[in-house]
Amino acid sequence: MTPALFSATWIDACAQAINQNDAYRRAAANWRWPLLLHITHDDAQTTMIYLDLYHGSCRAARLATSADLAHAEFILEAREAIWRNVLTGQLDPIAGIMRRQLTLTKGSLTTLAMHGATAKALIAAISQPDLPHPTPSSPPVQSVTTATPHHTFVTTSRQGLDNDSVPMRLWQKAKRLGVWNPADIDFSQDVADWQNLNATERDLLLRLTGMFVAGEESVTLDLLPLIMTIAREGRLEEEMFLTTFLWEEAKHVDFFANGFLKHIAPDAGDLTHYHTPAYRTLFYDELPQAMHALLSDSSPAAQARASVTYNMIVEGVLAETGYEAYFAALERNNLMPGVRQGILLLKRDESRHIAYGVFLLSRLIAADPQLWPVIEQRMNQLMPLAMQIITEIFSAYDDMPFGLRFEEFSTIAMTNFGRRLQRIEKARDQLVDADIDEDEV
Ligand SMILES: [Fe+2]
Ligand SMILES: [Fe+2]
Repeated sequence: MTPALFSATWIDACAQAINQNDAYRRAAANWRWPLLLHITHDDAQTTMIYLDLYHGSCRAARLATSADLAHAEFILEAREAIWRNVLTGQLDPIAGIMRRQLTLTKGSLTTLAMHGATAKALIAAISQPDLPHPTPSSPPVQSVTTATPHHTFVTTSRQGLDNDSVPMRLWQKAKRLGVWNPADIDFSQDVADWQNLNATERDLLLRLTGMFVAGEESVTLDLLPLIMTIAREGRLEEEMFLTTFLWEEAKHVDFFANGFLKHIAPDAGDLTHYHTPAYRTLFYDELPQAMHALLSDSSPAAQARASVTYNMIVEGVLAETGYEAYFAALERNNLMPGVRQGILLLKRDESRHIAYGVFLLSRLIAADPQLWPVIEQRMNQLMPLAMQIITEIFSAYDDMPFGLRFEEFSTIAMTNFGRRLQRIEKARDQLVDADIDEDEV
C-alpha cells in the first residue's frame, strides 16, 4: 500500500528511493547541504520534512524538529498543491521558485540554481507520477506583451536581496567603478598627438574607432530584450545589475562619439565604409536577431544563444581583444593619454558585463545541462566570424602601424574565449558553486 503523502512512512520510503538511485548519486555528487521542505496544507496545518543530503546520499530524512529548522541550509516553502505539482514532475522546483510558487525562505538562490540538475534528479528519485493534482499551477505561456502580476516582492518577503550573489556583487562594483564621465577626460595631448600621425596611422585609428563606436551603439540598442526577459522572471538582483550594464554601454557610445570623434577627429566624416563584411554579419544581423528573438521566445535556449552572441563573442572576444590591443598600441608608442584613460575605464566596465554573461550561461547550463549543444553550436558558428573580423582589419594594411601583430590580437581572443568556455563547462559538470566568478568579480 502506498504510504500517505508527507507521512513519516512516506519520508522513509523517499530516503530509500534516493539512496538506491544511481542517477541521483551522480547528479548530486557536489550537493552537501541539508534541506527542509515546508508544506502548507489546505487546512492551514503545516508539515516540515528534513532531508540531510550529502554528496549523493540521503544521510537522514524525518519530520523536522526545531533543531532541524536551524540546521537546514535551505528551506523551501509552498502550498501542498504546488508540492504535488513538483512531485508529479509537472513543475520544476527551480522554475517554481522563479515563478514565486515556491519560496526559498533560507539559503542562496544562486547556489540552488547552480545545482538545478541535483534538484531534478532528487525529484525524479522520489517522484509519484500518479498522484492526483487538484490545482493546476503552471501559468500559461505568456507573450511579451502580457502583464505579469506580482505575487510577492523580494524586498518585503523574508527572502530579501541576495547580497552574496554574483549579480549583487557586480552591482556593488558597478556603483564604485562604473560611475565616470567621458566629458571629464582631457584630450588636449591627444589632439596634439593626432596632428603628428601619418595617414596610415590615422586610418587605422579611425577604422578601429568606427568599429568600436558602432559596436557600442549596437550593444546599447540590443540589450533591452534580455533585461526584459530577466525582469519578467522576477530576478531582481540581476535586473539591478543590468541597469548599470545598459547605462555603461550608453556611456561608451558617449566616450567615442562625444570624446574621440568630436575632439580628436572632428572631420572624420562617415565611418561606415570601415564596416567590413564579417563585421556587418555580426553587428548588423546576428547580434540584433539573437537579442530581439527573446521578445517572442524567452526560453533558456534562446537566452543562451543571445548571451553567447552578446557576452561571449561580441564582448568577450571582440571588444575585450580590440580594446586590449588598441590600448597596448597607444601605450607602446606613448600616444593619446586621454583615449588610453577612457579605454582603461571602459575595459573595466566590460569585464563586469562579461562576468555577468559567464554567470548567466553558467546558471542556465546548471539548470539544464541539455543546453550545452546550443551554447557550443552558437560559439562554433560565431567564433570564426569574430576571427574573420580581426583578419579583415589586418588585411587592409600592407604594413600594420604601431607595431601591431595579428598574433597579438588572435592570441588574446583565443585565450579569453577558452578561459570562459572552461568556466561555463564547469557549470555543466556541476562543479560550480560560490567560486564561479573568482577572477571576474
Ligand atoms: Fe561597451
Ligand atoms: Fe559591454
